[in-house]
Amino acid sequence: MQQHHGKTIWIIGASSGIGAALAQTLSNEGARLILSARRQDKLEEVKGQLHGDDHKVVALDVSDADAFLNAAKAIGPVDSVIYLAAVYKPNATALSDVKQALDVNLFGAFACVNAVRDIFKQQGHGQIVLCASVAGYRGLPNAQPYCATKAALINYAESLKIELEPEHIDVKIICPGFVKTDLTDKNDFKMPMMISADEAASAISKGLTQKGFEIHFPKRFTLIMKTLRLIPNWLFFVFSRKMRR
Ligand SMILES: NC(=O)c1ccc[n+]([C@@H]2O[C@H](COP(=O)([O-])OP(=O)(O)OC[C@H]3O[C@@H](n4cnc5c(N)ncnc54)[C@H](OP(=O)(O)O)[C@@H]3O)[C@@H](O)[C@H]2O)c1
Repeated sequence: MQQHHGKTIWIIGASSGIGAALAQTLSNEGARLILSARRQDKLEEVKGQLHGDDHKVVALDVSDADAFLNAAKAIGPVDSVIYLAAVYKPNATALSDVKQALDVNLFGAFACVNAVRDIFKQQGHGQIVLCASVAGYRGLPNAQPYCATKAALINYAESLKIELEPEHIDVKIICPGFVKTDLTDKNDFKMPMMISADEAASAISKGLTQKGFEIHFPKRFTLIMKTLRLIPNWLFFVFSRKMRR
């Protein structure tokens, strides 16, 4: 059965990696897709490979809240919006990098919700899916400000879920472990239990139709990372010191 048949799903961050793979998976499962990111040529390439022919490309920069509002109005009714846009630079501490991470990873998510919330309220249903990371569970060394924005997204999604429940808007958070994409190709260390973007897409596609709040994968890795949330600080710092480079 096609799990997403008849659904219109807006993927933000669809020009590469997990977003591009997710577009392919969801189109195979019957969804009509709106594809957004900055690189229009890449989005057109992704669209060209999708199953079905009713898909649309809407290029935008997520740090431009007005562009988001205009895009949402132009697109019209949507069942689900999946916010995957993010930037990551290993060992980033320069304030220009901090600002870019805040603008794209965090402000963009707020701008996205701002653009769709009223539309979802008016139509009486909708789904908002934000993408954090296991890197948001606890502060890890060498990954600022990425970790901090991902922790904030988990917190934001938790608040949104409760606030939007009465409006019949489902809110979910995605927390992947390591997935092979342009983003992780920047890392120069061994990434344990890394999976492909197609595997990530299939886990997300399944999670979208389930009741749970968090979509996390691969479980063998994320469950280990979840224990870091449970252990006392002193023990967490014993482990995290070993990750310091
Ligand atoms: N790969 C992993 O191991 C991993 C692990 C945990 C979480 N995640 C999360 O998964 C999501 C997808 O990451 P990925 O690994 O697939 O990385 P990716 O291939 O680098 O994809 C990032 C996407 O964000 C878009 N983007 C960046 N800046 C943008 C901007 N200003 N406006 C609009 N779009 C923008 C990029 O498109 P343009 O450049 O065309 O704008 C691209 O489509 C991210 O939220 C990431 O944090 C990934």
